[in-house]
Amino acid sequence: VQQLIRGLLDLLLVQRVPEGSTERYTRWINTLSQDQLITQVYTSHGPSVVMPTWFCSREWYQKVGPFDEGGKGVPEDLLFFYQSLRHGGGLFRVDQCLLVYRYHEKAATHSVTESTIWKLRVDFLQERVLSQWESFTIWNAGKQGRKLYRSLSPANQKKVKAFCDVDENKIQKGFYTYEESEERPKPKIQVLHYKNASAPFIICVKLDMTGGNLEENLNSLQLKEGIDYYHFN
Ligand SMILES: *[C@@H]1O[C@H](CO)[C@@H](O)[C@H](O)[C@H]1NC(C)=O
Repeated sequence: VQQLIRGLLDLLLVQRVPEGSTERYTRWINTLSQDQLITQVYTSHGPSVVMPTWFCSREWYQKVGPFDEGGKGVPEDLLFFYQSLRHGGGLFRVDQCLLVYRYHEKAATHSVTESTIWKLRVDFLQERVLSQWESFTIWNAGKQGRKLYRSLSPANQKKVKAFCDVDENKIQKGFYTYEESEERPKPKIQVLHYKNASAPFIICVKLDMTGGNLEENLNSLQLKEGIDYYHFN
């Protein structure tokens, strides 16, 4: 195994607003398994190892880099991170605290818009995961799941065989109609209870927000992360 980027992370975040989101981020980044460093690169949390802790050889940097110094609004860490993975780079975390990272509101990270990040994530997911699948289910028939569906390329939209959810109201409706489509008739995608849906899944439910229910449901289906599902939120 070539451990090309060595990172370490243990964050002490000094943060005021928004309190909860940083807490969830810190918990996420500090509890990922080594395997999840790779499988969870599509989530909205960004790189699964934090940039200030990255180590790699100069040779690797020169192959992958340079950093996009486009400035304000460019998520240079995410771009480099994805580029490294595209080149076949691995990820490895040293589980020791080498860094204390002090978070502040004026951090450049806030100048990157959500829509820029969303697009990069969707493109990376399509390139790395969806291109390998013939069909899949989007886990979440709500806002985020439908937004993901609409963001996909037409070819990948066609691979969506269903949405699934736990919300009876959404399941009762039976399907989602893609109103913005130019196609006639407009595409309709089934909405199923997750127990009636089939793998593989793209999970569009926010992690760590359902009191462990999502994780329990995934376990109950005996699904394997990175094979049967990927997290996208
Ligand atoms: C699964 O599908 C069957 C057949 O359509 C339906 O009767 C059943 O209620 C569904 N299960 C759940 C948990 O929604």
